[in-house]
Amino acid sequence: MFEKLQQKWKVNGWRLLLILVTFALGGSLCGYAGRKLLGFFSVESNLVRIPLYILLVTILWPVCVILISIPLGQFGFFRNYLKKIGRRMSGKKAGSKEPETQNKQHNMFSVAIFASGAGSNAQKIIDFFRNSQVIKIALIVCNKPGAGVLDIAARENIPTLLIEKETFFKGNGYVDELKAASIDFVVLAGFLWKVPATLTAAYANRIVNIHPALLPHYGGKGMYGMHVHTAIIAAGEKQSGITIHYVDNVYDNGAIIFQATCDITADDTPDTLAQKVHLLEHAHYPRVIGEVVLQLQNQR
Ligand code: GRF
Repeated sequence: MFEKLQQKWKVNGWRLLLILVTFALGGSLCGYAGRKLLGFFSVESNLVRIPLYILLVTILWPVCVILISIPLGQFGFFRNYLKKIGRRMSGKKAGSKEPETQNKQHNMFSVAIFASGAGSNAQKIIDFFRNSQVIKIALIVCNKPGAGVLDIAARENIPTLLIEKETFFKGNGYVDELKAASIDFVVLAGFLWKVPATLTAAYANRIVNIHPALLPHYGGKGMYGMHVHTAIIAAGEKQSGITIHYVDNVYDNGAIIFQATCDITADDTPDTLAQKVHLLEHAHYPRVIGEVVLQLQNQR
């Protein structure tokens, strides 16, 4: 049962525990507050008392679970959960939009961000396209339960797909799921698994990655995160930077779309270099994604 809930809510075991605790504490608080409030109405007849109590707890329950969810760090989950209930009660299906909005979205590019880390780039990309008429960040794909990027997705109300190795490499690379979600374009932002041929074939020239160095140098298998910055500082390089490139079946190999550089000073460490590179990533990645997608859209 717990596994089913984990899959349904796309959370890891620890998060599921916190959610269940929030339900339990929120429910108890709601019952307690309901009884207290009922005391203010001096109603004797059970015929009135019971419906009144039911009405009070119905109103109090969302308030109580939201209140409890804040200290337990589950606000994003419960906000979305209550929104879903609200939609169901008002008779709208999840994801249903007004006809005008549907038309506006018809020509939009749906983008999936693949990330498995903190997700600072994912957040910048989401912010950049928040009001875009061209790009919709429609899905966050992640291979690490508990990754920071999943909290961002919950907060931003973006659907997530938690993937696992076997299906990714031996199955069809989740192409069916991406197609079912109408994904047009894939952005890798801190995703460490090599993208399988099934996926690069299905999204030829529609998958981009950002690498925290100036390719073709300091790329390839094992060259990620701090490994890159440590190697660059150890080699005494005077410059580093970022590379945004298309993704093919070889690590960090696809055609380069954009590069930006930063200087390395004598007092730089791998950590300070990582900070400089992150700034470059945040400044350029969303804009470059926008330009690439615009080109594709013009070809449609
Ligand atoms: C970035 O440095 C990016 O270059 C690399 O993975 C890192 C992701 O960082 N591909 P964040 O999770 O977006 O903060």
